[in-house]
Amino acid sequence: MKRMLSGIKPTGQLHLGNYIGALRNFVKYQDDYELYVFIANLHCVTFYQEPRVLRKNLKDAIALYLACGLDPEKCTIFLQSDVFAHAQLGWLMACQSYMGELSRMTQFKEKSQKNDEGITAGLFTYPSLMAADILLYDADYVPVGDDQKQHVELARDLAIRFNNRYSETFVVPEPLSPKVGARIMSLSEPTKKMSKSDESDKGCIYLLDDLATVRKKIMSAVTDNLANVDYDKENQPGISNLLEIMSSLSGEAIDSIVSRYQGKGYGEFKKEVADVVCREIEMIQKKYDKIVKSDLIETTLKQGAEEASKISYRKLKKVQKKMGVDIF
Ligand code: TYM
Repeated sequence: MKRMLSGIKPTGQLHLGNYIGALRNFVKYQDDYELYVFIANLHCVTFYQEPRVLRKNLKDAIALYLACGLDPEKCTIFLQSDVFAHAQLGWLMACQSYMGELSRMTQFKEKSQKNDEGITAGLFTYPSLMAADILLYDADYVPVGDDQKQHVELARDLAIRFNNRYSETFVVPEPLSPKVGARIMSLSEPTKKMSKSDESDKGCIYLLDDLATVRKKIMSAVTDNLANVDYDKENQPGISNLLEIMSSLSGEAIDSIVSRYQGKGYGEFKKEVADVVCREIEMIQKKYDKIVKSDLIETTLKQGAEEASKISYRKLKKVQKKMGVDIF
C-alpha cells in the first residue's frame, strides 16, 4: 500500500479552503493509502501566538479532523510536537537546505513582506521542517492545496540531494492536488487565496462559523457586472470561485452547473452555493459538538503519537547513522 502524509497548521480556525483543498481529500484517501495526518503545531509558532488561543485552535483542529471523517482506526492522527523526530530531522534538513532556495519560497517572501514585527529564523527554515515531516515517513504522496506545492518540491529536492550524497535513504514524494478546488479564493477579494490571515473575515468561511454567517458571507461574495454565470477565472474570478466551491462539494461538474444557470441571476446562484456549503458545514458541526465533549481527542492523539514515533524514530536513526552523527 502506498503511503501518504499531510498536515495543517492551525494558526487560526480551519476554513473552507483547508477543507476543500486538503482535509476532505485526506478523508477520501484513508481507505486506499496508509495515511499519516498531523497538526503542524511547531509550524504555528513562527509568529507569536497567544498561548490560550493556540491551544484552543489545536484542539479544534483535531476535533474537526475527526468530525470531517478521519478515522483513527484507518489512519494515524497525531500532533507534530508529540513526535520528537520531527524537530530533530527538521534541524538536519535545515543543514541540507541552501539560503538561496529558502529565500525563493513564495510563502516566505509574502509573509516576511507583510510582517513588521520582525521575521523569525523559524519562518525562514520552515520549509526544511516541512520536508522533514514528509521524509520521516517515506511518503509517496503529499495531498496539499496549490499554495503548498512549492514546499513539497523542496522536500523532493532535499530527498534527492540527501540520497545522492549519502546513498538511497528517502522516498522522493509527490504533491497531489485536487483538479477542482486546489486554490479556493477569498470571497471578498477573489483574486487572493482564502486564508486565515485575511485582514477581514468576510472573505473566509470558517468550518465553525454559524450557518447564518456562512450564508451571509456567500450572499455578499464579490462578483462582477457581467450578469452571466460562467467559469472564466480571469474575467469572472468571484463567480468562478463560487463554481469551484459548489462543484467540489456537490460533485456536479462545473459545466453542468453553468448550463443550469444560463439566463438566471447571481442571487439565485449564490443561494444554491450557500445551501450546498451550509449542508456540508452543518454535518461537520454536529459531529464536532459531540467530539469536543468526549475523550476522543486525547485517545486519538495518544495512539497516533505512539504509532508515528515508532516509524519516524527508525528513520531518524538511519539518517543520523548515514550522516555520521550517531556513533553506535
Ligand atoms: P496550511 O495550514 O496553510 O494549509 C493546510 C492545507 O490547506 C490547503 N489550503 C488551501 N487549499 C485550497 N484553497 C485555499 N485557499 C487553501 N488554503 C490552504 C493547503 O494547501 C494545505 O494543503 N505548511 C503547511 C502545513 C504542513 C504540511 C507539512 C503539509 C506542515 N508540514 C507536511 C503537508 C506535509 C501549511 O501551512 O498548510
